[in-house]
This record gives sequence, structure tokens and C-alpha cells, in this order.
Amino acid sequence: MPTPRRIAIDGPAGAGKSTIGALVAERLGYLFLDTGAMYRAVAVLALRKGIHSENEHDLAAVARESRITIGPPTKRDGRAYTVLVGGDDVTWEIRDAAVDRIVSQVARHPQVRDVMVAEQRRLGARGRVVMVGRDIGTVVLPDADLKIFLTASAHERARRRGEELAARGDVRSREDLLHEILRRDQLDSERVVAPLKAAPDAVVIETDGHTVGEALQHVLRVVAERSK
Ligand code: DC
Repeated sequence: MPTPRRIAIDGPAGAGKSTIGALVAERLGYLFLDTGAMYRAVAVLALRKGIHSENEHDLAAVARESRITIGPPTKRDGRAYTVLVGGDDVTWEIRDAAVDRIVSQVARHPQVRDVMVAEQRRLGARGRVVMVGRDIGTVVLPDADLKIFLTASAHERARRRGEELAARGDVRSREDLLHEILRRDQLDSERVVAPLKAAPDAVVIETDGHTVGEALQHVLRVVAERSK
């Protein structure tokens, strides 16, 4: 069998999907698409334009009208990719605490998801892609060649998130981070449309107690097995 052409990686916030997905894509020479960044870009637009996170109609309109693109890094400042909204670089802005607070609500709306999913499928159709998110294996690419569900305990994910933010000079208490993770888990898993869950045919990988390097090796072994 050839190397899987479309690889879906899903899992909760902080499980290491983006880091590992980007590394897998680099190894294979595939396009890497972090779909969470697209929902975050819509949240940035909502904040900039003063659209309430419950206003589904206006959020969907702004998502449809603004050109949200994710491409290769345009600067060497530690970014894995560059996110543009109408030509404006929002790569770091999408990680702001204000965005963290509203993004789950923004991503909950079916009309917003329809716009995002259409674009994700368009990019997925080209093949040679590693796509990372919550609903890639279940909704966006249900016929992906390989589906991985990457997970870790909430405590471990809060610890990793704390380290990641501290590295950028943003120090937050462990309790706040855990609270934030649990709140997002709940919103992402309990929403009616495309909730976070492993596809029945996904390979589930637990990353508690494993380094990024070890988790990456595990994923690459699964890719190699599927390529035999
Ligand atoms: O992976 P992340 O934390 O950057 O995702 C941001 C938000 O977007 C999160 O609340 C879940 C949501 N999301 C989603 O609903 N579907 C996706 N495919 C990716 C992210």
C-alpha cells in the first residue's frame, strides 16, 4: 500500500496534535492544515468587528467574506505556519487569551462550521495532507486514509499548555489553565454539531508520560504500518 495520502489527526485541546501533525507533515513532505487556526481566525474577526460570539449569522457572514488562509511560515519567529485574514498576519493574535475565551462558542455554530468545512474539504481533496482538528476523521474527511485520535489527561494537557505559554512570557496559574481546558473539553464534546469524538476506525494514541518525540515516533510507526 502507498503512504496514506490524507491523514486526519483529532483530539482535545493540548494533546499535542498541532506539534505532532506539523512534524508528520514535514517528514512526509505533505501540506499541514491546523483547522483550529481557522476557527481562531474567525474569533479574531469577531473581536475586531465587535460581533458577539452568539451571533451565528454575522459570524458566518464574516467567515465567508474574509479570506482566511493558512500557508507556510513567512517569518522565522517560531511559527509553524502563517495565518492571514484578508492579507493581515494574525498568526500570533489567534493565540491571545481573548481568543481562547470565545473560540469554542464561535466554533459551535453550524453556519460557521459549514464555511470552514467546505474550505477544509477543498484543501483535503488535493491529497498529501495532514489535517488536524476535532472532527476531521468524523465529518471533514470521513474517508481519510488514516485517522489518528491523539489524547492525554486534562492535567497533562494543562501542564503542557502552561509550559508553551510560559515560553512566550505569558505566565498563568495551573488552576486557571486546567479550568480553561476542562471548559473547552466540555464545550467541544457536548456541542450538537460535529462534537469532539474519535472516529470508530481511528487509531487512539495516549500521550501521557510520553515526550513529543516519542508520540511522533508512535504516529510515524502507524503511518509506516499503513504503508505496507
Ligand atoms: O485546536 P484549537 O485549540 O486551536 O481549536 C480552537 C477551537 O476550535 C476549539 O474550541 C475547538 C474548535 N475546533 C473545532 O471545533 N473543529 C476543528 N476541526 C478544529 C477546532
